[in-house]
Amino acid sequence: MNFELTETQTMVQQAARDYAVRRVGPQAAELDRDARFPVELVRGLAELGLLGVNIEEKWGGADAGVVAYALAMMEISRACASTAVSMAVTNMVAEVIQEFGSEAQRRGHIPKITSGEHITGSFALSEPGAGSDAAQMRTTAKRAAGGWVIDGQKAWITSGTHSGVFVVWARTGGPGAKGISCFLVDKGADGMSIGKPESKHGLRASTTVPLGFDECFVPDDALLGDEGGGFKIAMMALDGGRVGIGSQAVGIASAALDEAVAYSKEREAFGNPIAQHQAIQWMIADSGVELAAARSLVLRAAWLKEQKHLFSQEASMAKLFASEAANRICNRAVQIHGGYGYIREFAAERHLRDVRVTTIYEGTSEVQRIVIARNLLG
Ligand code: CAA
Repeated sequence: MNFELTETQTMVQQAARDYAVRRVGPQAAELDRDARFPVELVRGLAELGLLGVNIEEKWGGADAGVVAYALAMMEISRACASTAVSMAVTNMVAEVIQEFGSEAQRRGHIPKITSGEHITGSFALSEPGAGSDAAQMRTTAKRAAGGWVIDGQKAWITSGTHSGVFVVWARTGGPGAKGISCFLVDKGADGMSIGKPESKHGLRASTTVPLGFDECFVPDDALLGDEGGGFKIAMMALDGGRVGIGSQAVGIASAALDEAVAYSKEREAFGNPIAQHQAIQWMIADSGVELAAARSLVLRAAWLKEQKHLFSQEASMAKLFASEAANRICNRAVQIHGGYGYIREFAAERHLRDVRVTTIYEGTSEVQRIVIARNLLG
């Protein structure tokens, strides 16, 4: 088994790391404090090809594959988890259009995403009353002359304040998963309103908004994929999205572990740096093991997707383990910092707030367990 990265993967990882260290990291605390969306940083991601890592070059992507995407996500997340979630969802939207869109939809949208013209893309599946149970959505799209009219509400939409394009799921048929279709809706579409950003516990520099659809007309060619085929598109996109959020969790956790190691060598208690106390060493060791395991699971799922093998179960396993391990690692980092871990001056505090959502969005830990159990039980 070859664990070496390819030249392309190393190049993408290095470019992301360099950008993360030089540009993203130094701004992260301030962006978090001011709850300011990092427009300029996202534009910089576009310049590096990081808004379309797994997108073909003809659409302006880096065409570097899924493993390279996961590595880049880890690097950006290590510096700023808010910037990273914008990157993750935008890549996911570009990939959905590449995979399921018509040639005209690809031509019309993907270059605008990869170049940063759209700034970000948004994924509008969840609703106020339908998150984990996505098939129970109530938003409808009804046929009208030359198109569809969408009515309803969406919730928890990442980057919704800045996105140029929204992938929106709506019910076009009967109840359940088979009655759901998927549409591409441009920013500024008549009848679509973007609500006030939520005030969040973490990821404060990323915006999360509700969307309203009030007789929002979209033309026939806004339908993505087949009528009634939308739910499967969502599930397949989320399989890939879970690799992205698993990578984000690994990135945040590695930043937290770095902080914990540095602090433990510097801080003294009972006559020695606390790194010399076994209680601290064991916390550091446990975090190192869990981080390595999480990273391996995420890269395995990424590799399976890249090789076009089935990877749904492995993506859920990776996302479940990485997000839960990352929460433990960030929690330990705060514990090692003692009182200093509880104040905003130290990055460990931000990492713990940022990492919390990784067990919730892109499918909760409980949803991942449903997917894994169904696969194992047949
Ligand atoms: N790939 C392809 N098809 C799939 C699939 C997959 N991974 N998973 C399910 N399907 C298909 C099934 O085969 C089935 O099709 P058939 O009827 O033709 O056999 C159909 O989809 C319905 O599947 P289920 O019966 O399994 O559907 P369900 O209603 O029981 O739901 C679920 C399953 C796994 C719980 C799903 O609802 C789910 O994943 N929920 C979580 C949603 C989620 O992750 N939301 C995150 C929002 S986005 C976000 O957070 C982005 C962000 O901003 C960061």
